Amino acid sequence: MAFVKFSFIILLIACTSHAFAQNDSTKIYHELYRPQLHFSPQAHWMNDPNGMVYFDHTYHLFFQYYPNATVWGPMHWGHAVSPDMIHWTQMPVALYPDSLGYIFSGSAVIDSNNTSGFGKDGKIPMVAIFTHHDPKGADAGKNNYQNESIAYSLDNGATWTKYSGNPVLKNPGISDFRDPKVMWYAPQHKWLMTLAAKDRITFYSSPNLKKWTRESDFGATAGAHGGVWECPDLFPLQLNGSGYWILIVNLNPGGPNGGSATQYFVGQFDGNKFTAIDNKLRWVDYGPDEYAGITWSNTGDRKIFLGWMSNWEYGTKVPTAKWRSAMTIPRELNLKQEDGNILLSSEPVKELDHYKAGKGSMLTSPANLPAQCMLKFKMDQIDDYAITLLNKLSEKVVIGYDRKANQYYIDRTRSGRVNFEKNFAGRFTAPRFSTQPGSDMTLVIDAASIELFADNGLTVMTAIYFPNAPFDKVSFESAQPIQQMLIPLKSIW
Ligand code: FRU
Repeated sequence: MAFVKFSFIILLIACTSHAFAQNDSTKIYHELYRPQLHFSPQAHWMNDPNGMVYFDHTYHLFFQYYPNATVWGPMHWGHAVSPDMIHWTQMPVALYPDSLGYIFSGSAVIDSNNTSGFGKDGKIPMVAIFTHHDPKGADAGKNNYQNESIAYSLDNGATWTKYSGNPVLKNPGISDFRDPKVMWYAPQHKWLMTLAAKDRITFYSSPNLKKWTRESDFGATAGAHGGVWECPDLFPLQLNGSGYWILIVNLNPGGPNGGSATQYFVGQFDGNKFTAIDNKLRWVDYGPDEYAGITWSNTGDRKIFLGWMSNWEYGTKVPTAKWRSAMTIPRELNLKQEDGNILLSSEPVKELDHYKAGKGSMLTSPANLPAQCMLKFKMDQIDDYAITLLNKLSEKVVIGYDRKANQYYIDRTRSGRVNFEKNFAGRFTAPRFSTQPGSDMTLVIDAASIELFADNGLTVMTAIYFPNAPFDKVSFESAQPIQQMLIPLKSIW
């Protein structure tokens, strides 16, 4: 995104209330378009997930937050906590802008060995590593206005102290130099930072989170470059007993269906350098509305991904009144081999199953559609099919598979309120990677979004929508027999 054009937005202060009705979810979270399965802030603007870390039986989700308006502004880190990544409690703001600038995206780690020295009285520090964005430097046309800083918490993320030696990593003169994702690299007993530097990823390492040394670069000539590289992530995954490293790189614009999107590389990492196994373009999610997605820290071998469920093309314009944007459903990532390709698969975390309202039932077409639910489809032979979500105004979203093109699609052309942005109405497609004769699809449906997971998560799409009446009917057509299951879900609020 272009940051300079947002400077005027601070004038649009809508409300300065910081009253958090933390347990009173009956009055909030039930407005028009309010997600019932997804995290959204009680009020005001949110973009990227930040600092996702698991600690002491609690999942932490920090996020890019502007607590004074429903559009982007001087960035803070908002905070929410959850026992299961599905039901969230919003907490007070964690990090406020300061003399070094706004608090842009970054990550959090648990410094169990107290390498930073921030731990006290046996308390393990949670350390946040983030970008300080200096708006004055940006306005003055400088190129060194983004620097990396740290802060720590000794009370499970409730209160934070910024390090007096900030910034810990100074900008070498690259205008886009941000979004540090830090992990512990055990084989070499060091911290590793994956940083987006305009059109490439730069890796840095540190013994103590305070002193950083440049290791290597990756990507100036690899992957998609339709826009700036942002919000990276690096982590290992196993496939049939072999280890691989996955490098996630978010990109805006230049996504497969326009605007913001998340690409990834499969490769090897030796502690200093990342090498991709091939030059194939791969996307975590082909839909228009998953961005800035990265994974939780400190979850062991389980890799759980979450993204911002919007797109910079229209994120500031979507027709919600009190708040803007939600996060995707958390997704478990795995590696799979298909037709000689090594691919990431994403599936909704199993914790979502605890929100089932009953066992579910076989679907007949047409049927009533509950406000939030999962639809599951299975077929022995894949052929053309279409699933239509419909309301009483004949507005609709059509989801399906086009055999000739071998593509899945989501069509929200006539989904209701679409005119706030010219590229919002449209039909979005994604390749089918599976070469199996049969197929399956899970749809996660909420008040204003749909997430599609096909072929055990090999093809994924996310799209938001804003109908003028709720979609309360579903119908389907198919060239081959399909089994359909409807599983109503409870609201998380
Ligand atoms: C991605 C992004 C990040 C930046 C943040 C600012 O959506 O542009 O690169 O840190 O948002 O809010």
